Amino acid sequence: MSSPGAGLRSVPVDLGDDSYEVWVGAGARRHLAEVLPSGAGRAAVVTQATVGVTVDPGIEHRVFTIGDGEPAKRLATVEDLCRRWAQWGMTRRDVVVAVGGGVVTDTAGFAAAVYHRGIAVVHVPTTLLGQVDAAIGGKTGVNLPEGKNLVGAFWQPAAVLCDTEVLETLPPREYASGLGELAKYHFLTGDDLGDLPLDERVARCVAIKAAIVAEDEREGGRRALLNYGHTLAHALEIAGHHDLRHGEAVALGLIFAARLARRLERVGDGRVADHEAVVAGYGLPDRLDPGHDPDELVALMKRDKKALDGLTFALDGPDGVEVVAGVPEDVVRTTLVQWLGEGGR
Ligand SMILES: NC(=O)c1ccc[n+]([C@@H]2O[C@H](COP(=O)([O-])OP(=O)(O)OC[C@H]3O[C@@H](n4cnc5c(N)ncnc54)[C@H](O)[C@@H]3O)[C@@H](O)[C@H]2O)c1
Repeated sequence: MSSPGAGLRSVPVDLGDDSYEVWVGAGARRHLAEVLPSGAGRAAVVTQATVGVTVDPGIEHRVFTIGDGEPAKRLATVEDLCRRWAQWGMTRRDVVVAVGGGVVTDTAGFAAAVYHRGIAVVHVPTTLLGQVDAAIGGKTGVNLPEGKNLVGAFWQPAAVLCDTEVLETLPPREYASGLGELAKYHFLTGDDLGDLPLDERVARCVAIKAAIVAEDEREGGRRALLNYGHTLAHALEIAGHHDLRHGEAVALGLIFAARLARRLERVGDGRVADHEAVVAGYGLPDRLDPGHDPDELVALMKRDKKALDGLTFALDGPDGVEVVAGVPEDVVRTTLVQWLGEGGR
């Protein structure tokens, strides 16, 4: 592995022997050959037809396409990939290159984690959400019919290339979905990311995530902060059968988390207004559909897999965002009912 250097920003993810660099900037994908593990024999490039981004690993390679959307993120796709890799004769010296959004990097990353008990993977995330979140930190996995991301592994990539040029072809709602995660980082650090040029913004988000992952790779504690806004977001995604893109649901989840923190007297009105202003500033939805059934949403939030001790939320407070377990159900329900009663505003 050599260093792409000039023109790109490099953000280290510090994980001892598993450390790697995330390279951010326009044209980063053209440096793929330089970041492959040294001695890599062949490369299996995993992507989707809808991604439309080509890469040149500079070594013998083959392209393996998978289906689009959440339905493709399942064990059958992992089996199919591993079988096709075996038929091609891939060995542990070879490398997987995942080119796509979170569906591709999660699925190909998990297949790489289990094929031959683990072969190297390099991520080339092509969505904003993938660049600031999904491709960073080594969580890989697939869905089961019973729930999202229920089967997976921690498998750190050898390198990540966040090429901001490829975001130009992203459909607007996919771009907005990434902005929801950007809004989340805003509250985790208090940094005003909105004013930064895109490359810098992506690099800053990567650095925030990298710092949290470096402290808590396996989500024993601090990494759970990355779920800020996600408890209601996941419930809204399930209740609405994914009519909201993930980042749109996160935007609403951020406002709800602020309202809940206010009801628990952790923050005042000003902080709720800050959340509403940041979400609106990113052009994200800030209005909860008043047709939602609060009981259904509370029941879904109780099923959240992070809820180890009753209802668990990442909540803002005097010392910043913290994980708060055992939030009383009636407080959660009242906060929701009040928001819905205001017409979701
Ligand atoms: N592993 C993690 O830490 C982590 C974190 C957050 C989210 N995720 C996962 O990420 C997934 C969502 O990822 P996503 O939002 O990137 O969605 P996605 O992967 O479904 O991509 C969205 C759509 O954009 C298309 N696309 C991708 N790049 C494109 C480009 N440059 N130009 C045009 N079209 C392009 C894709 O083909 C797809 O149709 C979810 O499954 C979620 O669970 C994982």
